Amino acid sequence: MSTISVIGAGSWGSALSLILADNKHIVNIYDLDDNLINEINNNHTNGKYLPNSKLPHSITGYTDLKQALKGSEVILTVVPTKVMRSVLCNVNTNLDHEVIFVNASKGIEPDTFKRVSEIVYEEIEANKIKGFVALTGPSHAEEVIQRMLTVVSAASDDLDLAQFIQKLFNNDEYFRVYALNDLIGAELGGSLKNIIALAAGIISGLGYGDNTRAALITRGLVEMRRLAVKAGAKEETLFGLTGIGDLVVTATSIHSRNFQAGYKIGNGKNLQEALASMTMVVEGVRSCEAAYKYAKELDVDMPITFAVYDVLFNKREPRDVIKELMCRTLKLE
Ligand SMILES: NC(=O)c1ccc[n+]([C@@H]2O[C@H](COP(=O)([O-])OP(=O)(O)OC[C@H]3O[C@@H](n4cnc5c(N)ncnc54)[C@H](O)[C@@H]3O)[C@@H](O)[C@H]2O)c1
Repeated sequence: MSTISVIGAGSWGSALSLILADNKHIVNIYDLDDNLINEINNNHTNGKYLPNSKLPHSITGYTDLKQALKGSEVILTVVPTKVMRSVLCNVNTNLDHEVIFVNASKGIEPDTFKRVSEIVYEEIEANKIKGFVALTGPSHAEEVIQRMLTVVSAASDDLDLAQFIQKLFNNDEYFRVYALNDLIGAELGGSLKNIIALAAGIISGLGYGDNTRAALITRGLVEMRRLAVKAGAKEETLFGLTGIGDLVVTATSIHSRNFQAGYKIGNGKNLQEALASMTMVVEGVRSCEAAYKYAKELDVDMPITFAVYDVLFNKREPRDVIKELMCRTLKLE
């Protein structure tokens, strides 16, 4: 039995806490939302993010970070990546011992192109980090909270650590975890697929069908692989759970908020209008900005990502951008 501090009690933080509690670990969950933490402690529910769900009574909620970190062996971060740096800075101030960091958030920092593991090593003092593992793969909180069969990967540069976290989260009934030793591939796969999910939503909102979506997923994977490999990932990782697996689940499901936001844009809303109607984080927007700049810097061709960037940030009409994609020079597959 381990003690785990979960930072972020939204959809994914709550669903992962359910698994850890089912596995008989001590789960202390932290969020800055008082109402949410009161609800978790008093009603054992999370009506804001996961309506109709029940959380185990053994999960304890905190709004006091120091309390939430007390005695922890593992810290699991599950907050939107745009607040990750400031949250980690607070964690560092309130942490007085060494822990393993596990991250389940998906995104890249737009101006630095940093992955969450890199941000952790920048914000947390070296004597407080035993190591870092990314927990990522095809997984919707809405299904995990109902204990539906789900398979993900625990990725680290340190395979022993990945295997420790694999065992911590694995549940024989509904949550299978593979270990992986390609951290760059896992983190980039999980972040870049959200851009393709936005594109999948846009084409659905425009009324295109299965042919278009299949083409988008296939060609999307090609450009995800190009950037990831140039950044140091192993090519095969992009063909695993954290690459194609996560891409398929996100680009084909109504549960995906990136898909939902894209759908609204395809339906005629602009980015601000689409985001205003979402209660949950849409990571693909920031990741698109990051991937666009990163690909330009590394001289990697990513036509779909560039097209999504044009729609989101240059306010181009999706139909015009698609026309340009279709008219590019013909080439070998
Ligand atoms: N929801 C899923 O199914 C799912 C699956 C896999 C990965 N993820 C990733 O997990 C991350 C979180 O997603 P989510 O769906 O849980 O988001 P969410 O919007 O449901 O919840 C985010 C939570 O973070 C909290 N938060 C925000 N700022 C904070 C701060 N400064 N300090 C403490 N808490 C803060 C919010 O109050 C909220 O409870 C994202 O990167 C997402 O891509 C989500």
